[in-house]
Amino acid sequence: MRSVVGGAMLLLGMSALPVLAADGKNTTTNAMPPGAASCSPCHGKQGEGQPTTAVPRLAGLNAQYLERQLAGFKDGTRKNRIMMMIASDLSDGEKKALATYYANMATTKAETAPADAAVIAAGAKLAATGDWSKDLPGCAQCHGAAGLGVGADFPRLAGQWAVYIEKALRSWKSGDRKTDPMGVMANIAGKLTDDQIKSVAAYYESLPVAAPAHASETKP
Ligand code: HEC
Ligand code: HEC
Repeated sequence: MRSVVGGAMLLLGMSALPVLAADGKNTTTNAMPPGAASCSPCHGKQGEGQPTTAVPRLAGLNAQYLERQLAGFKDGTRKNRIMMMIASDLSDGEKKALATYYANMATTKAETAPADAAVIAAGAKLAATGDWSKDLPGCAQCHGAAGLGVGADFPRLAGQWAVYIEKALRSWKSGDRKTDPMGVMANIAGKLTDDQIKSVAAYYESLPVAAPAHASETKP
Protein backbone atom coordinates (compact mmCIF):
# COMPACT_ATOMS: atom_id res chain seq x y z
CA MET A 1 0.00 0.00 0.00
CA ARG A 2 0.89 3.57 -0.50
CA SER A 3 2.42 4.40 2.84
CA VAL A 4 4.32 1.22 3.57
CA VAL A 5 7.70 2.67 2.70
CA GLY A 6 7.15 5.94 4.52
CA GLY A 7 5.56 4.14 7.43
CA ALA A 8 8.40 1.67 7.75
CA MET A 9 10.88 4.53 7.61
CA LEU A 10 9.00 6.22 10.40
CA LEU A 11 9.06 3.10 12.47
CA LEU A 12 12.75 2.40 11.96
CA GLY A 13 14.27 5.85 11.85
CA MET A 14 11.89 8.49 12.93
CA SER A 15 14.34 11.32 12.51
CA ALA A 16 14.40 10.69 8.76
CA LEU A 17 11.01 12.27 8.23
CA PRO A 18 9.76 15.69 9.25
CA VAL A 19 7.78 15.55 12.45
CA LEU A 20 6.21 18.90 13.12
CA ALA A 21 6.31 20.26 16.60
CA ALA A 22 2.99 20.83 18.29
CA ASP A 23 1.78 24.32 17.72
CA GLY A 24 -0.77 24.30 20.46
CA LYS A 25 -1.20 23.33 24.01
CA ASN A 26 -3.23 20.53 25.37
CA THR A 27 -5.36 22.47 27.78
CA THR A 28 -7.22 19.57 29.36
CA THR A 29 -5.96 17.58 32.32
CA ASN A 30 -5.80 14.36 30.48
CA ALA A 31 -3.77 11.51 31.94
CA MET A 32 -1.52 9.94 29.35
CA PRO A 33 -2.07 6.19 29.04
CA PRO A 34 1.18 4.17 28.90
CA GLY A 35 0.80 3.20 25.22
CA ALA A 36 0.55 6.80 24.00
CA ALA A 37 4.34 7.28 24.01
CA SER A 38 4.52 4.88 21.07
CA CYS A 39 1.97 6.90 19.09
CA SER A 40 3.51 10.33 19.49
CA PRO A 41 6.49 9.90 17.12
CA CYS A 42 3.94 9.80 14.31
CA HIS A 43 0.75 11.41 15.62
CA GLY A 44 2.55 14.04 17.68
CA LYS A 45 2.70 14.69 21.43
CA GLN A 46 -0.50 16.72 21.18
CA GLY A 47 -2.17 14.41 18.67
CA GLU A 48 -1.61 17.01 15.98
CA GLY A 49 -0.61 14.59 13.19
CA GLN A 50 1.60 15.59 10.29
CA PRO A 51 0.53 17.98 7.54
CA THR A 52 2.72 16.46 4.84
CA THR A 53 2.92 12.71 5.41
CA ALA A 54 -0.72 11.60 5.70
CA VAL A 55 -0.49 10.86 9.42
CA PRO A 56 -3.85 12.08 10.70
CA ARG A 57 -4.54 14.49 13.49
CA LEU A 58 -6.23 12.54 16.31
CA ALA A 59 -6.77 15.39 18.79
CA GLY A 60 -10.42 16.15 19.39
CA LEU A 61 -11.83 13.38 17.20
CA ASN A 62 -14.72 11.50 18.75
CA ALA A 63 -13.54 8.75 21.13
CA GLN A 64 -15.90 6.08 19.84
CA TYR A 65 -14.93 6.90 16.28
CA LEU A 66 -11.21 6.51 17.14
CA GLU A 67 -11.83 3.27 18.99
CA ARG A 68 -13.77 1.91 16.03
CA GLN A 69 -10.91 2.73 13.66
CA LEU A 70 -8.42 0.92 15.90
CA ALA A 71 -10.76 -2.08 15.86
CA GLY A 72 -10.93 -1.78 12.06
CA PHE A 73 -7.12 -1.92 11.77
CA LYS A 74 -7.13 -4.93 14.07
CA ASP A 75 -9.83 -6.88 12.20
CA GLY A 76 -8.56 -5.86 8.76
CA THR A 77 -11.58 -3.86 7.58
CA ARG A 78 -9.13 -0.98 7.38
CA LYS A 79 -5.79 -1.69 5.77
CA ASN A 80 -2.58 0.14 6.62
CA ARG A 81 0.42 -2.01 7.42
CA ILE A 82 1.81 0.10 10.22
CA MET A 83 -1.48 0.75 11.96
CA MET A 84 -2.54 -2.88 11.56
CA MET A 85 0.61 -4.00 13.37
CA ILE A 86 0.14 -1.43 16.09
CA ALA A 87 -3.59 -2.06 16.61
CA SER A 88 -3.19 -5.83 16.73
CA ASP A 89 -1.06 -5.43 19.87
CA LEU A 90 -3.64 -3.32 21.70
CA SER A 91 -6.17 -4.82 24.10
CA ASP A 92 -9.74 -3.50 24.11
CA GLY A 93 -8.97 -1.57 27.28
CA GLU A 94 -5.88 0.02 25.75
CA LYS A 95 -7.82 1.00 22.62
CA LYS A 96 -10.46 2.69 24.74
CA ALA A 97 -7.91 4.50 26.91
CA LEU A 98 -5.96 5.79 23.90
CA ALA A 99 -9.11 6.84 22.05
CA THR A 100 -10.36 8.75 25.08
CA TYR A 101 -6.98 10.38 25.61
CA TYR A 102 -6.79 11.74 22.07
CA ALA A 103 -10.48 12.69 21.97
CA ASN A 104 -9.97 14.88 25.04
CA MET A 105 -7.09 16.83 23.52
CA ALA A 106 -8.00 20.36 22.55
CA THR A 107 -4.87 20.96 20.50
CA THR A 108 -4.94 24.04 18.30
CA LYS A 109 -4.05 23.79 14.64
CA ALA A 110 -0.58 24.53 13.32
CA GLU A 111 -0.43 27.28 10.73
CA THR A 112 0.36 25.91 7.30
CA ALA A 113 0.44 27.68 3.95
CA PRO A 114 -3.15 27.99 2.73
CA ALA A 115 -4.16 26.26 -0.50
CA ASP A 116 -5.26 28.26 -3.52
CA ALA A 117 -8.43 30.25 -2.73
CA ALA A 118 -10.25 29.03 -5.87
CA VAL A 119 -9.51 25.40 -4.94
CA ILE A 120 -10.81 25.96 -1.41
CA ALA A 121 -13.94 27.66 -2.79
CA ALA A 122 -14.67 24.72 -5.10
CA GLY A 123 -14.25 22.38 -2.13
CA ALA A 124 -16.57 24.51 0.01
CA LYS A 125 -19.27 24.30 -2.64
CA LEU A 126 -18.97 20.54 -2.94
CA ALA A 127 -19.04 20.19 0.86
CA ALA A 128 -22.16 22.32 1.16
CA THR A 129 -24.28 21.20 -1.77
CA GLY A 130 -22.65 18.12 -3.29
CA ASP A 131 -22.83 17.38 -6.98
CA TRP A 132 -26.32 16.42 -8.00
CA SER A 133 -25.27 15.55 -11.54
CA LYS A 134 -23.66 12.53 -9.86
CA ASP A 135 -26.22 11.99 -7.12
CA LEU A 136 -23.62 13.11 -4.60
CA PRO A 137 -24.87 14.64 -1.35
CA GLY A 138 -23.01 17.52 0.30
CA CYS A 139 -20.49 16.30 2.87
CA ALA A 140 -22.02 18.72 5.37
CA GLN A 141 -25.19 16.63 5.49
CA CYS A 142 -23.34 14.04 7.53
CA HIS A 143 -20.17 15.74 8.76
CA GLY A 144 -21.91 18.90 10.00
CA ALA A 145 -22.16 22.38 8.55
CA ALA A 146 -18.75 23.44 9.89
CA GLY A 147 -17.22 19.99 9.40
CA LEU A 148 -17.02 19.46 13.16
CA GLY A 149 -18.55 15.99 12.93
CA VAL A 150 -21.76 14.60 14.35
CA GLY A 151 -21.71 12.11 17.22
CA ALA A 152 -19.75 8.88 17.11
CA ASP A 153 -20.59 7.98 13.51
CA PHE A 154 -19.59 11.01 11.46
CA PRO A 155 -16.05 12.12 12.20
CA ARG A 156 -14.83 15.67 12.28
CA LEU A 157 -13.06 16.75 9.11
CA ALA A 158 -12.42 20.40 10.01
CA GLY A 159 -8.71 21.01 10.49
CA GLN A 160 -7.75 17.50 9.39
CA TRP A 161 -4.71 17.48 7.09
CA ALA A 162 -5.60 17.58 3.40
CA VAL A 163 -3.01 14.95 2.44
CA TYR A 164 -4.62 12.53 4.86
CA ILE A 165 -8.20 13.34 3.74
CA GLU A 166 -7.17 12.71 0.14
CA LYS A 167 -5.62 9.42 1.12
CA ALA A 168 -8.69 8.37 3.11
CA LEU A 169 -10.96 9.06 0.14
CA ARG A 170 -8.68 7.04 -2.12
CA SER A 171 -8.63 4.14 0.36
CA TRP A 172 -12.39 3.85 0.02
CA LYS A 173 -12.08 3.95 -3.73
CA SER A 174 -9.48 1.17 -3.72
CA GLY A 175 -11.31 -0.93 -1.11
CA ASP A 176 -8.56 -0.64 1.51
CA ARG A 177 -11.03 0.85 3.93
CA LYS A 178 -14.36 -0.77 4.67
CA THR A 179 -15.06 0.65 8.10
CA ASP A 180 -18.03 2.74 6.99
CA PRO A 181 -21.52 1.55 7.85
CA MET A 182 -23.34 0.34 4.70
CA GLY A 183 -20.49 1.41 2.43
CA VAL A 184 -21.64 5.00 2.56
CA MET A 185 -18.19 6.55 2.13
CA ALA A 186 -17.12 4.01 -0.48
CA ASN A 187 -20.12 5.04 -2.54
CA ILE A 188 -19.36 8.75 -2.13
CA ALA A 189 -15.61 8.49 -2.71
CA GLY A 190 -16.22 6.38 -5.80
CA LYS A 191 -18.04 9.29 -7.41
CA LEU A 192 -15.40 11.94 -6.71
CA THR A 193 -12.96 13.02 -9.39
CA ASP A 194 -9.35 13.68 -8.49
CA ASP A 195 -9.97 17.43 -8.64
CA GLN A 196 -12.95 17.11 -6.32
CA ILE A 197 -10.91 15.05 -3.86
CA LYS A 198 -8.16 17.70 -3.84
CA SER A 199 -10.49 20.65 -3.46
CA VAL A 200 -12.70 19.19 -0.75
CA ALA A 201 -9.60 18.08 1.21
CA ALA A 202 -8.08 21.57 0.92
CA TYR A 203 -11.36 23.08 2.11
CA TYR A 204 -11.60 20.91 5.22
CA GLU A 205 -7.96 21.49 6.12
CA SER A 206 -8.61 25.23 5.95
CA LEU A 207 -11.39 25.12 8.55
CA PRO A 208 -10.69 25.81 12.22
CA VAL A 209 -10.85 22.96 14.70
CA ALA A 210 -13.50 23.36 17.39
CA ALA A 211 -12.78 25.98 20.01
CA PRO A 212 -11.15 24.16 22.95
CA ALA A 213 -13.86 24.94 25.53
CA HIS A 214 -16.62 23.87 23.20
CA ALA A 215 -14.74 20.76 22.10
CA SER A 216 -14.26 19.43 25.58
CA GLU A 217 -17.89 20.17 26.53
CA THR A 218 -19.23 18.09 23.68
CA LYS A 219 -17.10 15.03 24.32
CA PRO A 220 -19.18 11.91 24.98
C1 HEC B 1 4.77 4.77 12.40
C2 HEC B 1 3.76 5.82 12.44
C3 HEC B 1 2.53 5.59 13.32
C4 HEC B 1 2.49 5.22 14.64
C5 HEC B 1 3.64 4.89 15.57
C6 HEC B 1 1.08 5.25 15.02
N1 HEC B 1 0.31 5.61 13.95
FE1 HEC B 1 -1.72 5.75 13.91
N2 HEC B 1 -1.66 6.20 11.94
C7 HEC B 1 -0.54 6.29 11.17
C8 HEC B 1 -0.89 6.50 9.78
C9 HEC B 1 0.05 6.65 8.60
C10 HEC B 1 -2.31 6.52 9.74
C11 HEC B 1 -3.21 6.65 8.52
C12 HEC B 1 -3.56 5.25 8.06
C13 HEC B 1 -4.43 5.23 6.85
O1 HEC B 1 -4.17 5.98 5.93
O2 HEC B 1 -5.40 4.45 6.86
C14 HEC B 1 -2.76 6.34 11.12
C15 HEC B 1 -4.09 6.31 11.50
C16 HEC B 1 -4.54 6.19 12.80
C17 HEC B 1 -5.92 6.28 13.21
C18 HEC B 1 -7.13 6.58 12.33
C19 HEC B 1 -7.50 8.04 12.47
C20 HEC B 1 -8.69 8.48 11.66
O3 HEC B 1 -8.90 9.70 11.57
O4 HEC B 1 -9.42 7.65 11.15
C21 HEC B 1 -5.94 6.10 14.56
C22 HEC B 1 -7.15 6.09 15.47
C23 HEC B 1 -4.57 5.91 15.00
N3 HEC B 1 -3.74 5.97 13.91
C24 HEC B 1 -4.18 5.72 16.30
C25 HEC B 1 -2.88 5.43 16.71
C26 HEC B 1 -2.50 5.10 18.07
C27 HEC B 1 -3.46 5.07 19.24
C28 HEC B 1 -1.16 4.84 18.06
C29 HEC B 1 -0.27 4.39 19.20
C30 HEC B 1 -0.70 3.21 19.93
C31 HEC B 1 -0.69 5.05 16.69
N4 HEC B 1 -1.76 5.40 15.91
C32 HEC B 1 0.62 4.93 16.28
C33 HEC B 1 0.77 6.23 11.61
C34 HEC B 1 1.15 5.84 12.89
C1 HEC C 1 -24.37 9.94 4.16
C2 HEC C 1 -23.41 10.41 5.12
C3 HEC C 1 -22.06 10.91 4.64
C4 HEC C 1 -21.81 11.85 3.66
C5 HEC C 1 -22.79 12.58 2.80
C6 HEC C 1 -20.36 12.02 3.65
N1 HEC C 1 -19.76 11.22 4.59
FE1 HEC C 1 -17.77 11.08 4.98
N2 HEC C 1 -18.12 9.72 6.44
C7 HEC C 1 -19.36 9.19 6.75
C8 HEC C 1 -19.20 8.17 7.77
C9 HEC C 1 -20.30 7.34 8.40
C10 HEC C 1 -17.81 8.12 8.07
C11 HEC C 1 -17.11 7.22 9.09
C12 HEC C 1 -16.66 5.96 8.43
C13 HEC C 1 -15.89 5.08 9.36
O1 HEC C 1 -16.37 4.82 10.45
O2 HEC C 1 -14.79 4.67 8.98
C14 HEC C 1 -17.16 9.09 7.21
C15 HEC C 1 -15.80 9.33 7.19
C16 HEC C 1 -15.17 10.23 6.35
C17 HEC C 1 -13.74 10.46 6.34
C18 HEC C 1 -12.71 9.80 7.21
C19 HEC C 1 -12.20 10.72 8.26
C20 HEC C 1 -11.01 10.16 9.00
O3 HEC C 1 -10.63 10.75 10.02
O4 HEC C 1 -10.44 9.16 8.56
C21 HEC C 1 -13.52 11.39 5.36
C22 HEC C 1 -12.18 11.96 4.93
C23 HEC C 1 -14.80 11.75 4.80
N3 HEC C 1 -15.78 11.02 5.42
C24 HEC C 1 -14.96 12.69 3.79
C25 HEC C 1 -16.19 13.01 3.24
C26 HEC C 1 -16.35 13.96 2.15
C27 HEC C 1 -15.21 14.74 1.53
C28 HEC C 1 -17.67 14.01 1.84
C29 HEC C 1 -18.36 14.79 0.75
C30 HEC C 1 -17.82 14.68 -0.58
C31 HEC C 1 -18.35 13.08 2.75
N4 HEC C 1 -17.40 12.50 3.58
C32 HEC C 1 -19.71 12.86 2.77
C33 HEC C 1 -20.58 9.58 6.22
C34 HEC C 1 -20.76 10.51 5.21
